[in-house]
Amino acid sequence: MAGPPQSSNSENIESNIDAGLATLRAQFPARFNAAESEPSLREENAKLLGKKGELTAILKQLGAVAPEARKAIGERVNALKTEVEAAFQKRLATIEAAKRDAELNARPFDLTLPGRLAAPIGHAHPISIVRDEIVDIFARLGFQVHDGPEIELEDYNFTKLGFPPDHPATDMQDSFWTTSGHLLRTHTSNIQVRAMLSQKPPFAFIAPGAVYRRDDEDATHLPMFHQIEGFMVNERVTFAELRGVLTEFAERLYGRDTTIRFRPSYFPFVEPGAEVDVRCVFCKGGGCSICKQTGWIEILGAGMIHPAVFEHCGIDPEKYTGFAFGMGVERIAMLRYDIPDLRMLVENDPRFLVQF
Ligand code: DAH
Repeated sequence: MAGPPQSSNSENIESNIDAGLATLRAQFPARFNAAESEPSLREENAKLLGKKGELTAILKQLGAVAPEARKAIGERVNALKTEVEAAFQKRLATIEAAKRDAELNARPFDLTLPGRLAAPIGHAHPISIVRDEIVDIFARLGFQVHDGPEIELEDYNFTKLGFPPDHPATDMQDSFWTTSGHLLRTHTSNIQVRAMLSQKPPFAFIAPGAVYRRDDEDATHLPMFHQIEGFMVNERVTFAELRGVLTEFAERLYGRDTTIRFRPSYFPFVEPGAEVDVRCVFCKGGGCSICKQTGWIEILGAGMIHPAVFEHCGIDPEKYTGFAFGMGVERIAMLRYDIPDLRMLVENDPRFLVQF
């Protein structure tokens, strides 16, 4: 039968424990300092504090110590344990710092070396590609390039162009209005007004830019899109010149076998006015789903400047004549690249954009 430990036995164990503690206390700083790496430090720590460690072994003897002495001796064991733990953390921090230093100093750090992966370089957006191509064609035909504001006066966007005040395009539903009574231009035709008000004929320019309409977005409508306006005014400019310029344009854009046709149409700022179609570039006129079996695709509106527009802008309609035309860049890009949905052009999905 196992009775309580003899007190003399307990005293032996106590002095054993104290001797063990003294030995460990004398040893552990040197043992930790001898560890040069984190794994060997952890190994050393486990030898002391691990399940089968030396200090743990001492702790286990505590059960054999007489209850009245257990508290005091237990405190001495725990005090050493705390010291060992603190010393471990300190040595660990030193090793980690040394490792960082070594890493930083190991290889010369040359900031001027090129990166290992070439940075991906973007390219122009399909709308910009097509716009630039159109601008380039007209620039070669002798047209200047004019710019103008996107936030515009009602007068320059509508009134001087001959839109009657109750025309549906001027309605709150069709334009974006600011609280100050300005609007986001609904077309780039505002630029012909600004040109006529600030300069004298002759004029031959195109005006590319963003325009805005309060349309609900779908596959063929967006509240913002791009147009290119064309404008030519001089003494004796005729419809034949309009036809010549647009024919040359269509041939340079789509190839020499392209033909165009004019259909009478109405725009308040031209008389006569026309819609201009190109022979379908896909079926060459035979009829396909893209031209809806008509053999023709509408690409722009055009006409001879209405005399009233000249008068509104201080140009003598008896002396000058001219033509204007306006086209949608998105429409031409969609035809060029066979893009089925206008929204793809503004979603900025790289899987779409890398294809151009
Ligand atoms: N501004 C017209 C629109 O946005 C397009 C247009 C048609 C412009 C005929 C013109 C033109 O210069 O003559 O629908």
